Amino acid sequence: MNLKINIAQLSTELETLASFSDAPAPAVTRVVFSETDLRARCYIKDLCANAGLTVREDAVGNTFARWIGSDPELPAIGTGSHIDAIPNAGRYDGTVGVLGGLEAIRALQREGVRPRRSIELVLFTSEEPTRFGIGCLGSRLLSGALDLAKASSLKDKEGKPLDEWRETARFTGDLRSVALPQGHYAGFVELHIEQGPLLEQHGTALGVVTAIAAPASLRIWIEGEGGHAGAVLMPNRRDALCAAAEITLALEAAVRNSGAVDTVGTTGVCDVFPGAINSIPVRVRLEMDVRDIDEARRDSVLARFRASCEEIAARRRVAVRIEMINADPPAACDKQIIAALADGAARHRLSCEHMVSRAYHDSLFMARIAPVAMLFIPCRGGFSHRPDEFASPEAIMNGTLSLAEALAELAARGN
Ligand code: GLV
Ligand code: MN
Ligand code: MN
Repeated sequence: MNLKINIAQLSTELETLASFSDAPAPAVTRVVFSETDLRARCYIKDLCANAGLTVREDAVGNTFARWIGSDPELPAIGTGSHIDAIPNAGRYDGTVGVLGGLEAIRALQREGVRPRRSIELVLFTSEEPTRFGIGCLGSRLLSGALDLAKASSLKDKEGKPLDEWRETARFTGDLRSVALPQGHYAGFVELHIEQGPLLEQHGTALGVVTAIAAPASLRIWIEGEGGHAGAVLMPNRRDALCAAAEITLALEAAVRNSGAVDTVGTTGVCDVFPGAINSIPVRVRLEMDVRDIDEARRDSVLARFRASCEEIAARRRVAVRIEMINADPPAACDKQIIAALADGAARHRLSCEHMVSRAYHDSLFMARIAPVAMLFIPCRGGFSHRPDEFASPEAIMNGTLSLAEALAELAARGN
């Protein structure tokens, strides 16, 4: 096989996809189910149809584009990622896995490959938690990892429920129909930018992911007492924001004291009510993200953090309620898919190293119903979730080429 990636076309497609954005370039903002997201999805579906793929959408908007194999009854090989982008993000997170996956399929088609198993490109709905406060919504539902009652109760910040958003986006139908059975995919491979600096620092072309870290997210409600900023004297205050500040630092301390660099914690949201300069904050909502490749260590950090919250609440005479949004186990990648990816890289003399993914990805949930692995490409400075996120055309080409090789090998297997 003399596979060739049309990197000029793929780069143009990434650029076009980046133009579907609610932020001025180079920033990309594309929140799930926004008009912009829906127009971007149409763009991807057209590209898939042009490649002769059979397109299907499920009740939450996960989109599947299938290249039908010569043995269509066999479980397919899946690949793909997401196209939603957090506010003020870059253009490569997720999109490289979707458009790179499509180009990998087209490269195999151009080479005259006829896969035995079908190869299916998947665009997952809402990998980012921006709209509904929980990441990997589509892949959680696909893999049965999200309780349907919990899914139906999801709302955006304005209180608009998921079901209404689905209707707006014209993804209707029963959420129960989204789950795929075990064995639906014989394997799943996700191409993604590393979102960290290691590949670039080591001068390595590709990273083959062996495990995906365990993410947890929490929403914390702090209720104190409001009042006039001039009239209420300091000894009488029960300021919710001052308590929230201590709680934020308590998370940082718990994470730093975990004993491992792999434990990370972030407070990314702080909503203050009523939010007026001359009014004591009565209510604060924090949203926090804690991760580790070691689930037990992450959970002990969470336990220590909870104890600190109780202490702060008592001392500051405020009410603190902690809502655990998710606390997911890590995922181990499949040895055979790891080997297929490493072989694909070796065929093109591309250096590759094994690594863990500290970011979460839809593959974390696909691992519950299929063997998975991921392929990382370097990104400049390891920057991600910011407008200057950048992966070079060469890096994208290397990843797409090795992905295509692995897809061909996995799809040729009989069992
Ligand atoms: C995914 O976007 C993550 O936050 O890891
Ligand atoms: Mn992301
Ligand atoms: Mn991503």
